[in-house]
Amino acid sequence: QDTFRSPLVKVKGVPLIKYFAEMVGPIQSFQAWPDDVLISTYPKSGTTWLSEILEMIYQGGDLQKCHRAPIYMRVPFLEFNGPGAPSGLEILKDTPAPRLLKTHLPLDLIPQSLLDQKVKVIYVARNAKDVAVSYYHFYKMAKGHPDPGTWDSFLEKFMDGQVSYGSWYQHVQEWWELSRTHPVLYLFYEDLKENPKSEIRKILEFLGHSVSEETVDHIVQHTSFKEMKKNPMTNYTTIPTEFMDQNISPFMRKGIVGDWKSAFTVAQNERFDAHYAKKMAGYKLNFRWQL
Ligand code: PPS
Repeated sequence: QDTFRSPLVKVKGVPLIKYFAEMVGPIQSFQAWPDDVLISTYPKSGTTWLSEILEMIYQGGDLQKCHRAPIYMRVPFLEFNGPGAPSGLEILKDTPAPRLLKTHLPLDLIPQSLLDQKVKVIYVARNAKDVAVSYYHFYKMAKGHPDPGTWDSFLEKFMDGQVSYGSWYQHVQEWWELSRTHPVLYLFYEDLKENPKSEIRKILEFLGHSVSEETVDHIVQHTSFKEMKKNPMTNYTTIPTEFMDQNISPFMRKGIVGDWKSAFTVAQNERFDAHYAKKMAGYKLNFRWQL
């Protein structure tokens, strides 16, 4: 049943699952439009959540319209490629403006056109410990990844940047630095969780959109973890089990801040903290591990 598992392939030093590695070349000729909005994240940081929030904003809070297709069709995944499904590039060809698109790629691998066209970027970062735990469960259920091995060995690989999309540390830092020269709204999963309303207002201001107060409340309600978990258009249950086996772990798994505490041993946590301090030295990025 694990036919799709294969080793990661390095592209410019960045490990990627085989299917996505094949797309890095072809996406370089992607032509961005100035009114595109790019959702950029390291995996498992709140991509799907932000995607649904943005779609709700774009559709003026109209639930029917947001129900028209699964989230990966409404917000195409730039480097996506896999057996039996249209690639991200193919979906984008049929997507009218104004487009929302998503990527997990490090800056070095994105199409130049996104930068040249000054495409607005909304980045969501999530604390590294929760990302590592979420990613471990995702590796087990999403069959394009190599077998994650034990939690302990996966955590080592994560710290070492030897997981799909490479180093979390580098990713959060380089997209942060991009905001010096490019329009980037840098958000945190923990803030979205604590105060979704004020984060949605930040998004609206960044995009120059306005919706009624009532619509903001409606978006908050519709994009709660509970709602998105039961919504087939956001919970990835439309993907066949051979690619994503939600019996192993649901895509909408827990949706909380601080779940790492149920996975890290004291020794793992100490080792992680020491490594983290070195990797993040000199950066003012403030991640919260618990709320
Ligand atoms: S992916 O595959 O990289 O695009 O995954 P991504 O969507 O970035 O991250 C999945 C994690 O986000 C949680 N999630 C949410 N949390 C809170 N509220 C909402 N609405 C929400 N939607 C998704 C999801 O449960 C995954 O986190 P974990 O910790 O595994 O539960």
